[in-house]
Amino acid sequence: MRSFIHILLAFASFIFAVRAEWWLQDIAHQGLAPSAESGYAVFRNVQDYGAKGDGVTDDTAAINAAITAGSRCGQGCDSTTATPAIVYFPSGTYLISSSLLPDYFTQIIGDATDPPTLKASAGMTGFGLIDANPYYSSDLNWVSTNVFYTSVRNLIIDTTNVAATTACTGIHWPVSQATSLQNVVFNMPTTAGVVHVGIFMESGSGGFISDVTFNGGAYGAQFGNQQYTMRNLEFNNQATAAIQMLWDWDWTFINLTVNNVPLGIDMSAGGSSDQEVGSVIVIDSTFSSVDVAIKTAYDTASTSVTNGSLVLENVVLTNSPVAVQDDEDTVLAGGGTVSAFVQGHTYTLTSGPTDTMGTVTANSRPAALLGSGSNYYTQSKPQYETLTSADFVSVRTSGAVGNGVADDTAAIQSAINSAVAAGKVVFIDYGLYRITSTISIPPGTKIVGETFPVLMAAGAYFEDINTPQVMLQIGTAGEAGTVALSDIIVSTQGAMAGAILIEYNLKAPAGTPSGFWDVHARIGGFDGSQLQVAQCLKDPGSSTVVAACIAAYMALHATAQSGGLYLENTWFWAADHDIDDASDTQITVYSGRGMFIESTTGPFWLVGTAVEHHVLYQYQFADTTNIFASQLQTETPYFQPLPNALVPFTANATLQDPTFDCDGVSGNCDEAWGLRILSSSDIFIYGANHYSWFNNYEQDCSTFATNENCQARIIRLQGTLSNINMYSVNTIGSTSMIDNDGTEVASWADNKGVYQSNIISFKSG
Ligand SMILES: *[C@@H]1O[C@H](CO)[C@@H](O)[C@H](O)[C@H]1NC(C)=O
Ligand SMILES: *[C@@H]1O[C@H](CO)[C@@H](O)[C@H](O)[C@H]1NC(C)=O
Ligand SMILES: *[C@@H]1O[C@H](CO)[C@@H](O)[C@H](O)[C@H]1NC(C)=O
Repeated sequence: MRSFIHILLAFASFIFAVRAEWWLQDIAHQGLAPSAESGYAVFRNVQDYGAKGDGVTDDTAAINAAITAGSRCGQGCDSTTATPAIVYFPSGTYLISSSLLPDYFTQIIGDATDPPTLKASAGMTGFGLIDANPYYSSDLNWVSTNVFYTSVRNLIIDTTNVAATTACTGIHWPVSQATSLQNVVFNMPTTAGVVHVGIFMESGSGGFISDVTFNGGAYGAQFGNQQYTMRNLEFNNQATAAIQMLWDWDWTFINLTVNNVPLGIDMSAGGSSDQEVGSVIVIDSTFSSVDVAIKTAYDTASTSVTNGSLVLENVVLTNSPVAVQDDEDTVLAGGGTVSAFVQGHTYTLTSGPTDTMGTVTANSRPAALLGSGSNYYTQSKPQYETLTSADFVSVRTSGAVGNGVADDTAAIQSAINSAVAAGKVVFIDYGLYRITSTISIPPGTKIVGETFPVLMAAGAYFEDINTPQVMLQIGTAGEAGTVALSDIIVSTQGAMAGAILIEYNLKAPAGTPSGFWDVHARIGGFDGSQLQVAQCLKDPGSSTVVAACIAAYMALHATAQSGGLYLENTWFWAADHDIDDASDTQITVYSGRGMFIESTTGPFWLVGTAVEHHVLYQYQFADTTNIFASQLQTETPYFQPLPNALVPFTANATLQDPTFDCDGVSGNCDEAWGLRILSSSDIFIYGANHYSWFNNYEQDCSTFATNENCQARIIRLQGTLSNINMYSVNTIGSTSMIDNDGTEVASWADNKGVYQSNIISFKSG
């Protein structure tokens, strides 16, 4: 008997060891979408909908059934937050014969421990194995600048069954903020005449992509979008080019690896007289066996405009004879390392524009910002590949409800405390969680959300505009340690004029910063927020503030003694429209401040971040140092200047709030700053994009023809500055591009690009 049990146990543990699935597949799926139909499943395993994953059966219909179950937002639906879904693929090979069409707010996730393959059948139809925004008509189904909260990760996309000479696209991806592709491989034919393309993207306001490999095809990717950060993209053996830029305003590639391709990046679209690409930045990258690394149409004869601006920094070329080619001429030879090269308009505090096309002195990067070698530190979103579901503590299992009504403060605090004590990860099941007092997040906390659960500051504690209170308090002032947060949304419910959504206080040990990956703020504009069309409909022409729409005090505050925080793909959005309104109607909500960093030491990394529509400023760096940023992106509130940025928040001197002295500047001098840098040093920005589209909801102030005068100024430098470096500054709708203590450094009119105005390099010295 004893030995029988022993054998049974051994057999059971063998089965368990073999069967132990990745935690996300195995964990209890208890996500609650409160405004979806009853019984709505947030998590869908495609095999539960009949997909076989055997490489033989056509799984298209089964997978699309998993995507669409539960009255989701597809053809003809503007957008929604009501029906989020994870569509999960266990490992296997899924044969499909037409495009998968993810509905709005879908995360397609494969088993991270053994990524599944999506394989096109020979007769595959449609525009992309995954088509994230289909053309049911001549227009995209969704306005591409409104496609948020969609993602694909851990997947191999295989088009090798399709004849090389038949058009075939891996992923069609015209999307915007809070979206991502991560850990995706494209396998395409390498035979002669191949026309396949891995990613096709023609529009949007992105965005972030990381850890993607492209093998074969004609082009690895064709990209057109306003701005983007792309990290760890590897291209092997494309027939024509690794990347074709269709158009852009600004783009940063970090750690691009291109192997054995005739052309690395073709940014010459439109030719020298009509260039469609605004600017491109390539850093910490490698080209090997590439004939021409970058092909540009930048024309030294037409440098009155800035189209085709370019930065290379720390780019290694091996067996690649040409780094930059202009028409047919070599502008910069390859072979060796390009320390730094720019083409475009350059400025210092007291000079510019200077037309520059050639090598320049590279940024002197502080050790505190470096990872391996001389590259900037980067870190991909953790997926906890080695953990099983037993290593997670679910907040719903811990008693949180997540229906947008219950007070979930105590249950979430208890889940955090018990997870940290046991060395486990907090799992926030999808839901809308009301938080009515401060939640303490101690060092060692790891939190991962199930497709963007929402933590909402709610109730009297957060209401007082004169007594701000923190919702998520990470560590105490200067406390040592780190946290890791991913895939969550922080928010408010109703008029929380005193709510600071996140306060970061930890001082992380050198080399191991805390991380926020896909941690977004969404303030107003969704079901459950009580800050929608019904409460906060825009009222153009009126400067009356509706008190019920004063929604938040600040999104993120990194305090003076904090340091060591890596942010990747975060979007801190005060809503300009109601995502759950059938016509995406515009709303007026007031959030005081966006991201405030006043750490005296740094370091901070802001990789693909955006902050939009906060009243006083989007980014403010004060008395700080050691900041790396790739593609800051901001927008001013659409209602300003009615009221202007002095209303309804009173400047708080302790927080070094701006007071909007006009310094004799005419025009709308008192609108939100996109970026404000006070008395700081060692700041390295690779792409700073600051847009002011509207003047009290009228858009006719944000074009070259109308003199870009929605507001007078948008980037502010102030106080004692040292080593402030900004590559590729892009502005729209602001007369001044950079203002230093009341003096205009650069004007829009001197730096016109494809749509924005561009300065390729600004250095404070
Ligand atoms: C750069 O990207 C490649 C893959 O494209 C990856 O193997 C490598 O680890 C990355 N390097 C860093 C420093 O992240
Ligand atoms: C100003 O900010 C400080 C620091 O966050 C805070 O303690 C104080 O309450 C704020 N005062 C007002 C009036 O908002
Ligand atoms: C710059 O871009 C604009 C807008 O696309 C275009 O009209 C203009 O011809 C371009 N100029 C050059 C020199 O490429």
